[in-house]
Amino acid sequence: MDYLKIQGNTKLNGSIDISGAKNAALPLIAMTILAKSDLAITNMPDVVDIRTLLKLLQNLGASYTFEDNRLDINTSEVHHTKATYDIVKTMRASILVLGPLLARFGHCEVSLPGGCAIGQRPIDLHLKALELMGAKITIEAGYVKAEAPEGLVGCDIIFDKITVTGTANIVMAAALARGKTTITNAAREPEVAQLCEVLKASGIAIDGIGTSQITIEGTDRQLIDMSSFSVIPDRIESGTYLCAAAITNSELTLNKVRIDHLGSIISKLEEMGFKFTKEMNKITIHPAQKIKSVDIITQEYPGFPTDMQAQFLALATQAEGTSTIDERLFENRFMHVSELQRLGADIKLNGHVASIKGPTTLSGTDVMATDLRASSALVLAALVAEGETNIHRIYHLDRGYENLEKKLEAVGAKIERLKE
Ligand code: UD1
Repeated sequence: MDYLKIQGNTKLNGSIDISGAKNAALPLIAMTILAKSDLAITNMPDVVDIRTLLKLLQNLGASYTFEDNRLDINTSEVHHTKATYDIVKTMRASILVLGPLLARFGHCEVSLPGGCAIGQRPIDLHLKALELMGAKITIEAGYVKAEAPEGLVGCDIIFDKITVTGTANIVMAAALARGKTTITNAAREPEVAQLCEVLKASGIAIDGIGTSQITIEGTDRQLIDMSSFSVIPDRIESGTYLCAAAITNSELTLNKVRIDHLGSIISKLEEMGFKFTKEMNKITIHPAQKIKSVDIITQEYPGFPTDMQAQFLALATQAEGTSTIDERLFENRFMHVSELQRLGADIKLNGHVASIKGPTTLSGTDVMATDLRASSALVLAALVAEGETNIHRIYHLDRGYENLEKKLEAVGAKIERLKE
């Protein structure tokens, strides 16, 4: 197993190119199940989660090549419709194949994703919406078995709660359904918006893109003629590197970003005293005179993303005063707290609210990554800690960050990947 050795207390300087968004790429890959012919997707991040979903599609019968961040994929030969436990258990987002498989074939089986490190994360809302579209769904031996032999039928769906992959699943199902589907209380995340944009560019009538009410006119099981496109920049990767600059109080430029997707992240960093220079697809963060404490509540987009909670928690250890972080989306998403405490952070947990007192001098030691974003919080803390930090179990990081250690090394971090 690999681990990261980081020599802390260094300043960063220079620029980092941001990769394509993993959470945009995953639904877009699942969407290729609806494509009539070959499709090229560029700016595809080469991370483990993407490779996992591609393997799943290959098991279903798809063929692809994936090199230099370009994916060429053909799903015309897909004939299996069962997403098996061995893959789904490694990545919850595999559930994204449910909507498109059911819409195209009229039946499919997808393993239940099971538990997950950051809480229960059920899929009841996905299933309820597909049932409203006419699917018959049963759970048998750990599998979701879905059938709609006559095809799915458009209808009005009101999500009880905003769900990102749930919205993506229903958008894809609706694209091949008969008639019009309206999704109310839809997720407004840019990753969902890109999925809708790509379908729209392929001739599907979609209204309300990027809003909480989306309407989709389905093709009645006609596969879709899609043309090539490029994955949007990763706003969470961007936010993570902005936090790397912030925690070391350094100046850093990010290239290939979408500044309009970073609103809540930039605004919290501004509250903390950091300044920005913004150009077209480029942003520079400048050091703060004094890093100020901050209060954060995680919310759905355009609110503050739960996927940036751990990184800001690490950053708050360097702010003057007490910061609070209220995690509203997932229970049990504070596993990084005990590891940050091992580095010397002063954090108190009260239910879903963390209070962080700073600034504290962190001291390097051995820590363990627990989930994807928790791992990046440990990297950030290690960048500012005195001495050496070894971060174990970094396979979590590899799921979602492309070349993290190379990108950080290029801007001055003392970081190496070693074998246990
Ligand atoms: C997606 C992101 C993940 C991010 C999360 C919230 C991908 C691949 N993953 O996850 O990085 O942290 O959005 O922004 O895009 N819920 C239910 N029933 C359901 C579905 C969800 O109760 O059927 C609940 C969840 O437990 C959670 C909330 O709704 O409390 C939001 O979850 P959801 O938006 O579905 O998260 P994901 O799509 O899994």
